[in-house]
Amino acid sequence: MEMVPIASWLAEAEAHRRKYGRPLVTLSYAQSLDGSISTRRGEPLAISGPASLALTHRLRAAHQALLVGIGTVLADNPRLNVRLAEGESPRPVILDSHLRCPLEARLFQSGRQAPILAAAPPVSPAQRSRLQAAGAEIWEIPRDSSGRLSLAALLTALGQAGISSLMVEGGARVITSFLQAHLVDQVILTVAPLFIGGLNAVEETLLPTPLRLEDVGITRMDEDIILWGKICAEEG
Ligand SMILES: NC(=O)c1ccc[n+]([C@@H]2O[C@H](COP(=O)([O-])OP(=O)(O)OC[C@H]3O[C@@H](n4cnc5c(N)ncnc54)[C@H](OP(=O)(O)O)[C@@H]3O)[C@@H](O)[C@H]2O)c1
Repeated sequence: MEMVPIASWLAEAEAHRRKYGRPLVTLSYAQSLDGSISTRRGEPLAISGPASLALTHRLRAAHQALLVGIGTVLADNPRLNVRLAEGESPRPVILDSHLRCPLEARLFQSGRQAPILAAAPPVSPAQRSRLQAAGAEIWEIPRDSSGRLSLAALLTALGQAGISSLMVEGGARVITSFLQAHLVDQVILTVAPLFIGGLNAVEETLLPTPLRLEDVGITRMDEDIILWGKICAEEG
């Protein structure tokens, strides 16, 4: 896939799942020069140009599952499938503690592998059956010490379900939590040549342990810059 080494990275995915009990995690999103992923929370904004959008679809096709937060579902109503590339659509995974996902969400519409809605217990039986009827699978995931769904528990459950590669697309809260939890293995970013001064991709500090990339690569697609790398083993 162009110069982005996703095929060689993902060749290690099954070995990674067997060793660590969780999928290999690729974080991938599009940002402006100032690090914004949208204008304001809850508003959709097209940031990628056509070539980098097509790359995103090739990345989707290379992964077994694709995760976003409920904030992104409510803001963008994404289909989360592969349309601009060859290959199968990954299984959607939505972080949705209170099962706010609308029944008419487009991610239910493509007749594919059942989307997984990760919710915090207790789940109301009525909500569960409504969403199951729409095609979802509901997974009850415990909360972590901050009260959010435990990403470590979710990744373990995905690993147990045989999923060895997971692409995380956003939005800001999800990007921030994955980085804070040190659960990202590799990153592929689209950087578009615009300033927004909007919703920052990383909303909270990662200090005292900033995360650095290694094996960094960069290429240009139309007007966008594509930058990738693996998260370094913990520093300091
Ligand atoms: N440029 C891009 O590439 C890109 C990609 C995706 C999204 N976006 C933009 O990002 C914005 C949405 O971002 P957002 O920050 O509002 O929402 P988000 O990150 O998509 O979803 C956050 C929600 O997920 C749920 N959640 C459950 N467990 C979580 C955990 N451990 N960590 C984080 N979230 C957890 C929470 O809702 P509950 O408490 O209800 O569970 C939380 O409010 C939209 O404007 C969208 O357009 C941009």
